[in-house]
Amino acid sequence: MREKLGEIRRLALESTDAISDLRELENLRIKFLGKKGELTKVLRDMGKLSPDERPIIGGIANDIRKEIEEKIATIKETLVQEAKRAKLEKEKIDITISTNNEKLGHRHPLLSTIDELEDLFMSMGFTVISGPEIETVANNFDALNSPENHPSRDLSDTFYLNEDLVLRTHTSPVQIRAMKEMGAPLRIISAGRTFRFDDVDDTHSPMFHQLEGLVVDENVSMANLIHTLDIFIKELFGKDMKTRYRPHHFPFTEPSAEVDVSCFKCRGEGCQACNYTGWSMELLGCGMVHPQVLENCGIDSEKYTGFAFGMGIDRITMVKYGINDIRLLFENDNRFLEQF
Ligand code: DAH
Repeated sequence: MREKLGEIRRLALESTDAISDLRELENLRIKFLGKKGELTKVLRDMGKLSPDERPIIGGIANDIRKEIEEKIATIKETLVQEAKRAKLEKEKIDITISTNNEKLGHRHPLLSTIDELEDLFMSMGFTVISGPEIETVANNFDALNSPENHPSRDLSDTFYLNEDLVLRTHTSPVQIRAMKEMGAPLRIISAGRTFRFDDVDDTHSPMFHQLEGLVVDENVSMANLIHTLDIFIKELFGKDMKTRYRPHHFPFTEPSAEVDVSCFKCRGEGCQACNYTGWSMELLGCGMVHPQVLENCGIDSEKYTGFAFGMGIDRITMVKYGINDIRLLFENDNRFLEQF
């Protein structure tokens, strides 16, 4: 019996060495120590032993059981730790991995200009609003004092959708919407697309962009208009830029002016780009809101006055970035766009 127990001990300890997972280990435990296991089987025959031998063999059997149990416990602990480590390894997220492989785009130069213009005017207390590109003929022309026979209403100049709707020819109808919806006082700007029946060349496009501005309040004067636009132009193009207000006619402002700015190239010295005048022509149109336009929108023109201005964003973008062909802004050629 002693030999048998020794054999079981040897076998059990040897087989544990080859174990590589917890299930196998449990099977092994059952095989040697379980109710029907090898060790239990031997102990069942204890009755056949003499009373003297019984406690001795019993002691040996207990020691062997303990030894096997301890070995199994040690191996179990190792296997559990290994499984944990493997799981962690498998679920590891490498937060250092590079995500820069994708090529990111960037703002289109036109949108950058719009952002910049909006930021500038917002810093002066203007609110940014938007208006629809499909506009009523009433808002685009009538409410802005453009009479039935005004040339800009001509079929050859304007994209009509039907008798009552046009692709807006300027952003000025947003003035009408703003005054009707918000009333006085107000201070808004609005940028967006505008459309005219123009042949494409390096400075013309049937679709282009404008920024409209409008201030209505008590005691608003031409001095406020000039001061606001001068600050704006100096902020945008540099403190050394001069402005020049030339009388002009717009149906919805009275008086009206066109604004010239120092030549962007020579900054006023005179060069080929400005025909040696020192001036960049017609950067924007502006004026005091015509009293009739205020009345058209339900604003009391005895109490309130206002000024308005409108500028071409494409033109500003072109002089800002030195772009010499407006078509480049709309062709979406990556070789061009990637330069910005
Ligand atoms: N809407 C005019 C145009 O497209 C530009 C303009 C002129 C806007 C004078 C104004 C303004 O607000 O006061 O030519």
